[in-house]
Amino acid sequence: MKATTSAEYPELFVLENGGETDKFNTAYYDGEAIVNRLIWHMDLHYTGKPNRGAILSAVHIAEEDGQTGFGDLAKAYTALPEHLKNKIADLEVAYTFEMQRIKWRFADNSGYEPGPFSPKKPADVGFPDFPDAVYPMVVTHPETGDKILEIVEQFLDRVIEPEKIGMSDAEADQLLHELVEHIRKPEFHYWHDWRIGDMVLWDNWRAMHCTTGTRVGIKRLINRTTIEGGHTLGRQLAVTE
Ligand SMILES: [Fe+2]
Repeated sequence: MKATTSAEYPELFVLENGGETDKFNTAYYDGEAIVNRLIWHMDLHYTGKPNRGAILSAVHIAEEDGQTGFGDLAKAYTALPEHLKNKIADLEVAYTFEMQRIKWRFADNSGYEPGPFSPKKPADVGFPDFPDAVYPMVVTHPETGDKILEIVEQFLDRVIEPEKIGMSDAEADQLLHELVEHIRKPEFHYWHDWRIGDMVLWDNWRAMHCTTGTRVGIKRLINRTTIEGGHTLGRQLAVTE
């Protein structure tokens, strides 16, 4: 979402801090301006067809901050108590593509303030509007067969038809809060401290990721190559007129 394409090598996305796009990607956290901080998400999740994976390659690193976090959602599923595994087995969850983090219903927005140039709508950063994407709450990984807890913080909006298992909307929201607390547990996370030349490959069907961002003016440059993959894990909700 924060990426621009390399002019020389169009298959590369260039993730850059300390450049011209900083002002659009700067927000405040407990009063401190941070560039390119992103909460737990999966790439292209809002399309219903997340890419298979990606490779990140560090060209220039920040001396402080700038870590990338990865979270294992197969491990998170396995660690769920049995009663929750049973409860979510046949449920679906909807994600709403929305540029403003303050509108992400399950983000922890305490201490968060958008920056003056934070995008307000998709067109502000050249994106179309996407309809909601819906996933089974437990996705079976197309290649490994592992069960994946399909819960990430970014864009998470609601349970689809919670009443079919006798849940009210309020109880469904409570369930999502509980699951988000679960995926935030450090035991599922790995934090990568970058060195120049590091190359990191991840399975975007299994792992969520996030970035801590950097302070204003700090240079960081990571190249990203995306692995497309041929499976659709979710579906897009039809837009009703
Ligand atoms: Fe990402």
